[in-house]
Amino acid sequence: IMDHQLFSLVQQMTMEEKIAQLLQLAAPFFEGTESEGEITGPMASMGISEQHVQNAGSILGLSGAKQVIDIQQAYLKRNRLGIPLLVMADIVHGYRTIFPVPLAIGCSWDLELAEKSAQIAAAEAAVSGVHVTFAPMVDLVRDPRWGRVMESTGEDPYLNSLFARAFVRGFQGGDLTKETDRVAACVKHFAAYGAAEAGRDYNTVDLSEWQLREFYLPAYKAALDEGCEMVMTAFNTVNGIPVSGNKQLLRGLLRGEWGFDGVLISDWGAVKEMIPHGVAADEAEAAYKAIQAGVDIEMMTPTYVHHLQTLVESGAVDEALIDEAVLRILQLKKKLGLFEQPLRGANPEREREIVFCTDHRDTSRELAVKSCVLLKNDNVLPLKQGQKIALIGPFTRNGDILGPWSWKGSKEEAVQLYDAMATRTEPSLLTVAEGCGIEAFATEEQWNEALEAAREADVIVLALGEHSDMSGEAGSRADIRLPQAQLELIARLKPLHKPMAAVLFNGRPLDLHGVIDQADAVLEAWFPGSEGGAAVADLLFGFEMPSGRLTMSFPYSVGQVPVYYNAFNTGRPKDAPDAQERYVSQYLDIPNEPLLPFGFGLSYTTFAYEDAQLSAAEMTADKTLTVTVRVSNTGDLPGEEVVQLYVRDLAGDVVRPIKELKAFRKISPQPGESTEVAFTITEPQLRYYHSDYTYASDAGDFIAYIGPNSRDTVELPFRLVK
Ligand code: IFM
Repeated sequence: IMDHQLFSLVQQMTMEEKIAQLLQLAAPFFEGTESEGEITGPMASMGISEQHVQNAGSILGLSGAKQVIDIQQAYLKRNRLGIPLLVMADIVHGYRTIFPVPLAIGCSWDLELAEKSAQIAAAEAAVSGVHVTFAPMVDLVRDPRWGRVMESTGEDPYLNSLFARAFVRGFQGGDLTKETDRVAACVKHFAAYGAAEAGRDYNTVDLSEWQLREFYLPAYKAALDEGCEMVMTAFNTVNGIPVSGNKQLLRGLLRGEWGFDGVLISDWGAVKEMIPHGVAADEAEAAYKAIQAGVDIEMMTPTYVHHLQTLVESGAVDEALIDEAVLRILQLKKKLGLFEQPLRGANPEREREIVFCTDHRDTSRELAVKSCVLLKNDNVLPLKQGQKIALIGPFTRNGDILGPWSWKGSKEEAVQLYDAMATRTEPSLLTVAEGCGIEAFATEEQWNEALEAAREADVIVLALGEHSDMSGEAGSRADIRLPQAQLELIARLKPLHKPMAAVLFNGRPLDLHGVIDQADAVLEAWFPGSEGGAAVADLLFGFEMPSGRLTMSFPYSVGQVPVYYNAFNTGRPKDAPDAQERYVSQYLDIPNEPLLPFGFGLSYTTFAYEDAQLSAAEMTADKTLTVTVRVSNTGDLPGEEVVQLYVRDLAGDVVRPIKELKAFRKISPQPGESTEVAFTITEPQLRYYHSDYTYASDAGDFIAYIGPNSRDTVELPFRLVK
């Protein structure tokens, strides 16, 4: 089908047919769906007619090759103009082969593997009939109370942008028409969903335009620069206006300034939610605001199908807006090759072959290994062969390690920690006890079993965490410690004075009091996915080396939140040489610093940083600088280090962060070996948004910081001369 044919198709469509293209319905609306599909929002009665369903432009949460083929074929029989149905779903960190949650993937600092994980997710989804994934989620996150931090790669705009690009490349490949084993990506949630006040999901977002541009927007822009086909609006308001009706943000910035001409979809119900938000009196006004703002597809509320026609007839809405939206949707269908091959990649036979195949699972295990972050280790890990181990805790034999957004993943198929550990040591040396529930306190029987196991052991390994519903969408928590039952379990085992390592399976940076001060070692495994138990067992026994580095700060306590490394100095910084005791920016009761900073993570070996140097004291737009450092593996084991470069602009037009990540390199020197690491600093890296929103650098003094994390760095001052 040619572009001009799409125009004529739009011309042949009745107004009803056009408006139905703008409607997205969940799978249960379609006859013949065997399972409920993926239900990710309220299923209120919508007043949807048979006619609407027959012409709806897209379906959400459907998959399974046979099912998609049946539904597409039945749909096409009834669709007057033979316009195929678009199938969308949340393939966020894997389809059935589940990868670690995106926050964990972020901690791998491994863009290639991240891309590969998205490619595998796309291949499994595409063969199962999916055309578009609602991913990547690239919201910048600073508040671990928010359950959805697990879907983001963290608190840094630069790193998030790199991951956004990697995921888009992995999902989409190079040519969606030819590569039917890829899916179109939909970056979300535009914009600034991650800044929900107080970390409560769906809550207000109020940010200066400058904060928005400097920190929150870059990752969405990066995804679009990589060719991401779709954008999803955020549920929240931005500066008083719910995004789905925010003309300035959508038509102004996204479409106007950035030139985005792909499909813009609302989040589930977000158009109608303008009524409770208090900016629309009724459905008609919500529809009016959304179409004016530029929302093409309304997900799971019926305001468009109920009201757009009347709005056009009354002259309130220009028909051209509807045509434009329909055309964009048809263009996406065309790009996906659906007019020629409405079944696209859906193939039941191939589906059986590749979905959850060994190759895919191996990549999942590899990524899980790289995503785990060793937070503490006082000579407990790696475990030694021959040691008697008591494996205790609610995550010892628990498949709930896939994390939210793994609707096609099966907890039963996930590799559990005990099973994996039992194959890596002499089974008779391993005793297992649940100890307590995730939230339920230990029963007498559970406690006695745990105590007995612990008494007999040389070392205790605790498997602790949050169950998956404690994070993800609508999974905000105000108290981000481990549930009390598990803290009590640790406290009761402590008096045995046995070496104790804790493994954490969870979706957010936690307040680790009661864990990190009690255990001798802590391994943050996040929700590691289908092969989670295998990856963690390999790390615990030292068959693999921990190499993950945090991409979101772990707060000292929830009272500090939001706490993030790229903050501003304030006028009264606590660490200034002339700082007073009282009148400085500080808490009276806790430190200002997070418990564990951005970039932090330990290895089983140690690394020394020596001879950090700059190639010159000054740079210009044409003359770059080189920062070099020699990093040596000073321990006895191999290991991987993430060498990080940060920069600070000492006097800007607006205040500048105390550190900003500019580059990083992963290296693996063998014990006793050194690696020379060099970074180039260029003028564009020093640019930022000025008070008039120009993006430029300033002449003046800067500091380059180099080190293993955002805290433990060496300083190298330099000047930018213009
Ligand atoms: O893609 C999701 C979104 O992230 C949250 N609300 C529901 C959507 C569709 O499932």
